[in-house]
Amino acid sequence: MALNPYDSPRGRLRSRVETTRRQFLLLIGAVGALGATLFGGIELLKFMFPAATLESPPEFKTTFTLDDLTGNNSLKVNVLSDTANRVTVVLDSTGVYAVYLVCTHLGCTPNYVSDVTSGTGVDDKSPLVDQHYKAEGSAISTRNGWACPCHGSRYYIDSTNFYGPAPRPMDWVDIQLAPDKHFVVNRGVITVYRQAGDNAIPKWRLDPKSGKTNGQTVGV
Ligand code: FES
Repeated sequence: MALNPYDSPRGRLRSRVETTRRQFLLLIGAVGALGATLFGGIELLKFMFPAATLESPPEFKTTFTLDDLTGNNSLKVNVLSDTANRVTVVLDSTGVYAVYLVCTHLGCTPNYVSDVTSGTGVDDKSPLVDQHYKAEGSAISTRNGWACPCHGSRYYIDSTNFYGPAPRPMDWVDIQLAPDKHFVVNRGVITVYRQAGDNAIPKWRLDPKSGKTNGQTVGV
């Protein structure tokens, strides 16, 4: 009869050691599987429920009024910005519109500048540039607009891109006149969305006298 190698004090000890080693390896495997499951589950939850952002609601009332915008401005065009809400309100000879200041390149907030063609090599006396500043019946010649601080894109006052990597004009958003003469801007409602190469000056306007919009949306 063959001898059982574990049927001795040393064999029993070795048997216990092997059992303990197997249990340890099983435990490690179980912990690893549990960790992987937990990690995968958390990632799945994060995917399904993205972190809420603390952005302000899309609709807001400006701190400035129509009178602030139309004040005694010798340029006969006025621009007032709410940089916290990334919106600029522009008055030209045909009415009021609101530009959503989100650069169409990678989303930075462009800054308002009074000499937007400066340093770009663009001839600011050219008829092409002129058309973005001489709205019907207006004699506006100020080359104001927006310059993006991130990669240098430039936009004319009507938000048409003309320099830098921005692929298309910035969008316009809905703006209404409240009874107290402040403006109500809704960034959730795009009124003008232009594709790359669309350089036509949009005709959408809020009439500051009647408080009505003309409904001439673009691309929406
Ligand atoms: S984000 Fe404006 S130019 Fe790049």
